[in-house]
Amino acid sequence: MGQRGFFITFEGGEGSGKTTQCKRLAIDLEKAGYGVLLTHEPGGTPISEQIRGILLNREHREMVSTTELLLFAAARAQHVSERIVPALDEGRIVISARFADSMVAYQGYARGLELELIHYLNGIATQGLTPDLTIVLDLPVEIGLDRARQSRESMDRMESERIEFHKRLRDGFLTIASQEPERIKVIDAQMDPDRVYEQIKAEVDRRINEKDNKWRN
Ligand SMILES: Nc1ncnc2c1ncn2[C@@H]1O[C@H](COP(=O)(O)OP(=O)(O)O)[C@@H](O)[C@H]1O
Ligand SMILES: [Mg+2]
Repeated sequence: MGQRGFFITFEGGEGSGKTTQCKRLAIDLEKAGYGVLLTHEPGGTPISEQIRGILLNREHREMVSTTELLLFAAARAQHVSERIVPALDEGRIVISARFADSMVAYQGYARGLELELIHYLNGIATQGLTPDLTIVLDLPVEIGLDRARQSRESMDRMESERIEFHKRLRDGFLTIASQEPERIKVIDAQMDPDRVYEQIKAEVDRRINEKDNKWRN
């Protein structure tokens, strides 16, 4: 697959199926013989998981948006340096549930912080690394929140936000996707998991082949 690996991110609201679909894709790509790193944000390294704990703790009601933004960026900086870049350098396929687009959607579109500032911080945290492919799993927020509620013991600090927050979030992801149609594929996540996965797998295969062909020519 050439020298550098392939970087795939999954984005979307709560309960849209990111964790479910990521795992399945990782298993299939490993079976096909690829080296795979399956990871997630916020988290993915010991330091980033500690930051995640601070971010998602429901008792932290007093957390201001700027603190939240900087902590997400800090967790990402560590994750990119310690795990993602080394794995890509080894030629592996990296699959991350959430990445930089989540910060644009959550802290930007949903919380209302300045987009320019968020892009600037993302640039620092990612060292300019952009996913080769981003899958946005899209579905009505009520359905996603119901799924999340049924599958988790309790909702975390972000999941507990008001419904309007989640609606701005969904619109945010769709806006981001419309601005970068080459990189970002929106998939209807209301369908059953097998049908959602079929679409994801078709897109991933197409994009990996495209990249392989580019290297050969
Ligand atoms: N397409 C789907 N249809 C119905 N339920 C789903 C679907 N995808 C995932 N789920 C279920 O919804 C819940 C949340 O899925 P999960 O993958 O954890 O979402 P996310 O990581 O995006 O929050 C889980 O219980 C999962 O089994
Ligand atoms: Mg998840």
